[in-house]
Formats: sequence, structure tokens, C-alpha cells
Amino acid sequence: MGCQVIIFLSPLLCCCCLMISLVGADFTPVDNYLINCGSKSNTTIDNRLFVGDLTKPRFLSLDSSPKSSPISLSDPNPSPNLPTIYNTARVFPRGGSATYRVSIKKVGIHLVRLHFWPFNSQNYNLSTAVFSASVNGYSLFHGFSASKPLLREFILRVNSDDVEIVFTPEGELGFGFVNGIEVISAPDNLILDYGVLSIGPNGMKEYKNLSYRVLESVHRINVGGLKLTPFNDTLWRTWIPDDDYLVLQSAAKRVNSTHTPNYKPSGASREIAPDNVYMTAQEMNKDNDTAFADFNITWNFPVIDHVQYLVRLHFCDIVSIGLNQLYFNVFVNGFMAYKDLDLSTLTFHTLASPYYVDFIVGMDHSGPIQVSVGPSSLSTTLKKNAILNGVEIMKVVNSKVTGTGHKEQKVWVVLGSVLVSIAVLSVVLLAVLLMLKCRRKPKPAESSGWTPLRAPIGSFYSRVTESVASPRNGLNGLKIPFEEILFATNNFDRSLIIGSGGFGMVYKGILRDGTKVAVKRGMPGSRQGLPEFQTEISVLSKIRHRHLVSMVGYCEEQSEMILAYEYMEKGPLKKHLYGSGLPALSWKQRLDICIGAARGLHYLHTGFAQGIIHRDVKSTNILLDESYVAKVADFGLSRAGPCLDQTHVSTGVKGSFGYLDPEYFRRQQLTDKSDVYSFGVVLLEVLCARPAVDPLLAREQVNLAEWALEFQEKGLLEEIIDPQLKGQIKPSSLKKFADTAQKCLADYSVDRPTMGDVLWNLEYALQVQESQATSETNESSVTFTSELSTNRVVSHVPSNVQPIEDTSDEKLEVEAPIDDLVTTAQAFKACYGRRNLLPNSGVASMIYDVESNQERARRVTVLWEHGPGV
Ligand SMILES: *[C@@H]1O[C@H](CO)[C@@H](O)[C@H](O)[C@H]1NC(C)=O
Ligand SMILES: *[C@@H]1O[C@H](CO)[C@@H](O)[C@H](O)[C@H]1NC(C)=O
Ligand SMILES: *[C@@H]1O[C@H](CO)[C@@H](O)[C@H](O)[C@H]1NC(C)=O
Ligand SMILES: *[C@@H]1O[C@H](CO)[C@@H](O)[C@H](O)[C@H]1NC(C)=O
Ligand SMILES: *[C@@H]1O[C@H](CO)[C@@H](O)[C@H](O)[C@H]1NC(C)=O
Ligand SMILES: *[C@@H]1O[C@H](CO)[C@@H](O)[C@H](O)[C@H]1NC(C)=O
Ligand SMILES: *[C@@H]1O[C@H](CO)[C@@H](O)[C@H](O)[C@H]1NC(C)=O
Repeated sequence: MGCQVIIFLSPLLCCCCLMISLVGADFTPVDNYLINCGSKSNTTIDNRLFVGDLTKPRFLSLDSSPKSSPISLSDPNPSPNLPTIYNTARVFPRGGSATYRVSIKKVGIHLVRLHFWPFNSQNYNLSTAVFSASVNGYSLFHGFSASKPLLREFILRVNSDDVEIVFTPEGELGFGFVNGIEVISAPDNLILDYGVLSIGPNGMKEYKNLSYRVLESVHRINVGGLKLTPFNDTLWRTWIPDDDYLVLQSAAKRVNSTHTPNYKPSGASREIAPDNVYMTAQEMNKDNDTAFADFNITWNFPVIDHVQYLVRLHFCDIVSIGLNQLYFNVFVNGFMAYKDLDLSTLTFHTLASPYYVDFIVGMDHSGPIQVSVGPSSLSTTLKKNAILNGVEIMKVVNSKVTGTGHKEQKVWVVLGSVLVSIAVLSVVLLAVLLMLKCRRKPKPAESSGWTPLRAPIGSFYSRVTESVASPRNGLNGLKIPFEEILFATNNFDRSLIIGSGGFGMVYKGILRDGTKVAVKRGMPGSRQGLPEFQTEISVLSKIRHRHLVSMVGYCEEQSEMILAYEYMEKGPLKKHLYGSGLPALSWKQRLDICIGAARGLHYLHTGFAQGIIHRDVKSTNILLDESYVAKVADFGLSRAGPCLDQTHVSTGVKGSFGYLDPEYFRRQQLTDKSDVYSFGVVLLEVLCARPAVDPLLAREQVNLAEWALEFQEKGLLEEIIDPQLKGQIKPSSLKKFADTAQKCLADYSVDRPTMGDVLWNLEYALQVQESQATSETNESSVTFTSELSTNRVVSHVPSNVQPIEDTSDEKLEVEAPIDDLVTTAQAFKACYGRRNLLPNSGVASMIYDVESNQERARRVTVLWEHGPGV
């Protein structure tokens, strides 16, 4: 009882979390210092209060050497349209340096903005100033002269409890000045250390420790859009349109969207770039008659030579009407930076979801930074396109510490040492605990850091028992070192490629211990997918089923996202049906394969609290092992099932042409019945040995489902079945099979059977085929094996087995504690022994206790047929 309540609650919790994360508030910086330099008064710009530094606010201390105390200056002829912070300035005369110091509440990434407006006043012509500046010991610039109004923005990590900005006049007559200062804490994910690639003539390399560099913003472009002012940006940045940087204006066409972007927790956030950047873009201009020509859209951004730059490109697919339609290439300085970029995959199947990538371009480059986007060879002719939504270019400031400079605060040293002691203590404690544990338990089999988990082979029942591995410990054990992956795939040898998909390439590999694996490598650089990838792993690691291709391990080193699956010797089912010249499968083999696949899918749909919908059931996703056991593959990116009182998941259409549930297509609502529809198409493929869609055939034959249903309705299905099967199939078996396929293909999902029903019907089709083969006369005795002596087993019926449903003619459902599972099924065979019970017909689903993450009980459905035996 209790556990069922928990099952009910868990989707509720998940939905709530989702809603909370969607209604995120605007960003409020913890540290937010806005200083109006050289002024006695506070002034407000864009709702932001700049505090005059002459009011001597408590948070600010302005030190200087005694000889050269700073002078405050005001513009005698202020321009009336100008924000008032530009009417005053602080001037730092020759002979020493001056320091602004503010205290910091939150360590981490901060923005430091310096405003310069060179006016002319008294003895000072500010345009002639020459000076340098540093922050916390990091030099920002040298020999700087502001000949025109300028805002310089720096992004850096602050690890101390204050920020010191030091201005030092340079040269004989030099002096320094500043009009305004901003010190703002930024979200720490603004600059991330992982997933940054440096790109240059020597290829791509991982770039480390980006967040430890000082960056200066150089260009910030809202591609295809309007100018965005600080008022439009949660971090008060300014974004300008791209027109001046386009190399060939006529190559690009502006597009915009009226919908706010689908921000996802793992992708870009509003602080990475505001809505307006992602809602506008440039796409390929195909208005000219050269509609089918390949061309790039190219932008040139002027920069100073021989310095490293961070190039951040923002994308959001606002041009596609469906998922997985847009593939394009991205070039930086003429180097391929991203091949076949597929935003649908990178954003985990959400359209209009913001995404960004970071590249570092090298010192060895001279001339402007060139960014190009162009169509990929994967796009179909009509869908050829390429987009760009935003660009930021930041200079990597040579971040040598100048002099002794700034001291990190003592507090941190103290705190640090406390932390170290705690860490040491915990390590010791852990070691002791581990030793105790090891002594108590025999050491589990363990090789070089990871243990391949293979699908347990065994009875239907025993394998379900295995399916609940301890989730957390299991994960580390599944890690595969990148080196091992390189070894297994011979450095991703192209000759070992056995497939490719939206996710990336699939390679055949052999691990050092001889295990054959299929290695799926995610596209390099897709950093934002990392959290999803990790969720994926934790889900996959929990799914163990004889009829689901299981994960052997994963690798996430060096910004790689790699999954290794058990290798399926005989490949996809499709290959064994048509087009490859392989020997034809017998009817029994085909039934066994369909039954296996149906079991796998049934388990996905019912084996978890939320259920998992596969979304791409087709004959290429059903794989066969060396003994032709069918396993369903590629359920990794499947969505979890419906939430709470919803009966469907609303989502963009994904799936393969010819297999797509018409209702899903019409209403974009996903239910497990969509899988049932696709499976119906697979059943017809198996029966007729032809593709789901064959454009080369006559019009009425192109779509297998339509064509076969027509024959089925006329009762002529036999005419179109695989000629190789002729004479093999018993009419009753064919009828059951064809009826099942027909029901699966019902137009409305409510009319379709569940996967459990499909499974039962297929079992039945096999049963009929088998029974007639062995004994034509005695139909009632087909199912019982001699080892089940009725009397003996009946005594094993557990007392705590409770029937829950006995309404159907064809099945009985009971619920039993997990330990009694096998006996339960056997017992029911015995109890109902006088009916035509079908062998292996128990369908078990788990009752899951979410809190303890453990299985509590198992629901068993036992199937029988009314027959002469009753
Ligand atoms: C300026 O703003 C600061 C901070 O809000 C405040 O403490 C101070 O009194 C204000 N000064 C004037 C002159 O309004
Ligand atoms: C200030 O200095 C700049 C640069 O030397 C010069 O071009 C400008 O004419 C000067 N302005 C005045 C008012 O002297
Ligand atoms: C990156 O940062 C870590 C931690 O501060 C440091 O140990 C490491 O040496 C740095 N690596 C490089 C290449 O700077
Ligand atoms: C940006 O903010 C200004 C106000 O400063 C507003 O008038 C304008 O409409 C905003 N632009 C966009 C694209 O939201
Ligand atoms: C969006 O596109 C429409 C029509 O092309 C145009 O009128 C409008 O100005 C665009 N809006 C933006 C923000 O670019
Ligand atoms: C077509 O291309 C030419 C140059 O190749 C350009 O001048 C013209 O404006 C383009 N037409 C359109 C509609 O973009
Ligand atoms: C796009 O630009 C890249 C890099 O400059 C170049 O290699 C590629 O050939 C261009 N593609 C087209 C279609 O012009």
C-alpha cells in the first residue's frame, strides 16, 4: 500500500521541481558596487544607483601615495544627453598610484567595468592621459590613453575578500583618470573551465583553467538583431548588431522569433546571453536564385594581432519547424570548429533552446577573427541552412601577477587549513570504515578500476531481480578510462565505425579484457549536454534487461561523452529481413525476436515509476546477439513517461519516417502507445520483409503500414507476406500475429493494446505455431512441462500473494513480495493448471519504493487461454 503511494508521489515531485526551475528570478548580484568617480552626488542610470566616491561611502577606501592625492574634476561643458557619471572624473597625478578598494562577499567570477570619458577641464586634457591599471595584482592594461569615450570590461575570478583596482600614471607628464567603476559578481557558470577547445593550425586541443584568466570583452554582437542596452540585459551588457562585421551582406538574412527561448538548466542561461540575443539570428539568404548553392555566412571581427582570444558563439534554433532538421558547420579563422552541428541533439531534443560554444584562437593568428557558418553535407537539399545568434570575443589578458601586489586574505588561509584538517580526518575515517567493510564482505570482483556489467543471462524472472543495482556505487564502477577507449577502438579507427546517429559515431571496440563493445562517441565539445549525459548514465546503469542492450560503461574524461554498450554480433534485425543477402529467418525465429523486443519495450514502459518511452522503435534499433536474442537499443535519449495526471508528454516530433505514430504527429503528444504503433510497423516488416517506407514502389505500396492494413482488412494479407515464409506459418499463428499488428496500428492510441498485451498475443502466436507443430491432436496439453508436478508446487503458494485483478478472461494479476517471485509464477501455473496456461507467460512489473530506491514487490500477470482444459 505505502509503496504505491510513493510511486504516485514521485512524478508530482518531479513536476514541481521542473516548475520551480522554470520560474527562475532575475539575477541579483551579491556584490554590486557602482561608483561615480570624482563626484559628491549619487546618480541613477538605467535604474542603477552609482554612488559618488566623494561621499566617502563606507564600503570604499581610496588609498594613494601622499605626494599624489587624486583630484576630482568636473566637465565644464557637460553634454546634456550624457549620463551624469561622465560629467565628473578622478584624476591621478604623476608620482604614485591610487587604489580603489571594495570588499567582496562572494568569491568567484566578477565583472569589473571601467568607464572613461576624456573631457577637457582646467589644466587637464584627459585625452592626453597615459596610465596603467591592475586588479588584485593582475595587470589589466599598460600605456593606455583614452582618446574617445570608452567602457572597458574585464571578467576575472576573485578569490580574496576584496577587490583592489590600482591606477598608475605612466610617462614623464603622464597622469591617469577614471569616470566610473563597476564591480559586480557574475554567475560562476559565466566562464567554465571544461569544454573549451583551442583551435589553430595544429588542430583542436582542450584549453584548461579558462576561469583563472583575466578576460577583456572586445566584441559583443547580437547577430541578426537590434542593439541591446544594459537595460535589456540581466548583467547590464551592451550588445550591438552584426551588420558592420558581415563580409557579404547578401549572404545573410535576418530571422527572429516571438517566443522566449527555452532555457534549460544545463544550457545557456539569461546571464550567458539575454532573450533578445537568442530570439534573433542570421540565416543563409536563399532568396537569390542560387537556392541550392553551398555558401558560408562570414563575419570578420577586427582584433589586435598575436594575442589569444576567447570566441563564444551563441546558437538557438529558431529557424527549424521540427527537430533534427538543421545541420551546419562552424568555422573559426578558416578552421573547422564544429562539424555537422546539430542543435536538436545538443539541446536534448528541444527546439529554440539556447546553446553556446567556446573556442580559444591562438597567438599565431594575425588579421581579424573570422567566424563562418555554412551548411553541412548531412542536410537535405531543401533544409540546407546555417545560423548564428550571437558572438562574443574576449581577449585573454596576459595575467602575470605584477609585483607583490595583492594579498589573499588570512581568513582563507585559516579556513583552508581547517578544511584540510577536516579532509584529512575524513579520509582517515573513510579508510578505517573501508577496512572494516572489506573484512566483513568478500571483495567484489574488481579489475583495473572498472567492472564491465553484462546483462545477466537467465530466466525472465531472475534477470529482473538483477535490475536494481545499487545506483550510486554502480556508477563509478562503470567508468572507463579514455585511454582504454582509445585502445579498444584503435584510436577511433574509421574502419571500425559500425553506425552513426544524431549523437555521434558508433565504433566497434574490444576492451583489454576481451569484451566486445559498441562505443558511441558524443560530438566533442558539447559541454552543455554534460548534466544530461550524467543523468543518462545513471538511468542506463539502472536498466538491466535481457532484451535491452545494456551499457557496459562510460567515459567523460577530456570533455568526451562516450558510452560503451554490449556488442551485438548479428547486428540490426532489419539486415536479417531484407536487402543484405543474409539467410532468411524462420517464422519461429522471427516470432522469438518479436517477443524479445516486445519484452524489452514492455519493461521500459512499466518497469519504472515513471515509465520510459522509447520514441524511435524501428527494425534498425532492434539488435540481435550471436544466438539471435533480440535486444532493443537506443533508448538512451528516451524521454521519461507522462507526469502525474497528464497522460502524455508534450514534445517535438522525433522518430523515423514510416514508423511515426500518426496521432503523435498530429498532436505532438507522446505516450507509450506511440511505441506500440511503431512496433506494429516492425511486425509488418518482419512479416513482409520489406522496408517501412520504400519510395521506389508504386504509390499505394510506398508506406508499408497503409499497404499491409489494406490487405489485412480484405483478408488477403497472405498474398503479401515474405515468400520465404510461405508454407511455414500455421494459419492460426498468422491470424494472431496479423491481428496484433493491426491493433497496434490503430489510428487512435486508445484503441491500441499495451505493450504487455502485444507481448501476450505474440506469445500466443508462437504457442499456436509450436503446439500445432508438435501435436496436432491434443491442444489442451501443450503448455505443461513435466517438471511441474502440480501437487508439489501448490504447497509453495505463498500466503502473502494477493490477487489484485481477476476480471479479465485472459489474465490474472497478483502482487507478491520480491523473494517469492519465482515461486509465485510457478504456483500460479500449478493453481490454474487446469486451464491452458501459457509457458513463460508471467509478466512481471516492479513496484518501486522511491525513497529507498529499492524494489518492494513484483506484480505478476499470469496468462492463460480458455480451452478444453477448463
Ligand atoms: C548615496 O547612496 C548611498 C548608498 O545608497 C547612501 O548611503 C548615501 O547616503 C547616498 N548619498 C547621497 C548624497 O544621497
Ligand atoms: C586634447 O588632447 C587631444 C589629444 O592630444 C587633442 O587632439 C585635443 O585637441 C586636445 N583638446 C584640447 C581642448 O586641447
Ligand atoms: C589549473 O588550475 C589548477 C587549480 O588551480 C592548478 O592546479 C593547475 O596547475 C592549473 N593548470 C594550468 C595549466 O594552469
Ligand atoms: C531595451 O531597452 C530599452 C529601454 O532602454 C527599450 O526601449 C527597448 O525596447 C528594449 N529592447 C528590447 C529589444 O527589448
Ligand atoms: C522581426 O521580423 C519582423 C519581420 O521580418 C520585423 O518587422 C521586426 O522588426 C523584427 N524584429 C526584430 C526585433 O528584429
Ligand atoms: C543577390 O545577390 C546579389 C550579389 O550576389 C546581391 O547584390 C543582391 O542584393 C542579392 N539579392 C537578394 C534579394 O538578396
Ligand atoms: C566555408 O568556409 C570554410 C572555411 O573558410 C571553407 O573551408 C569552406 O569551403 C567554405 N564553404 C563553402 C561552401 O564555401
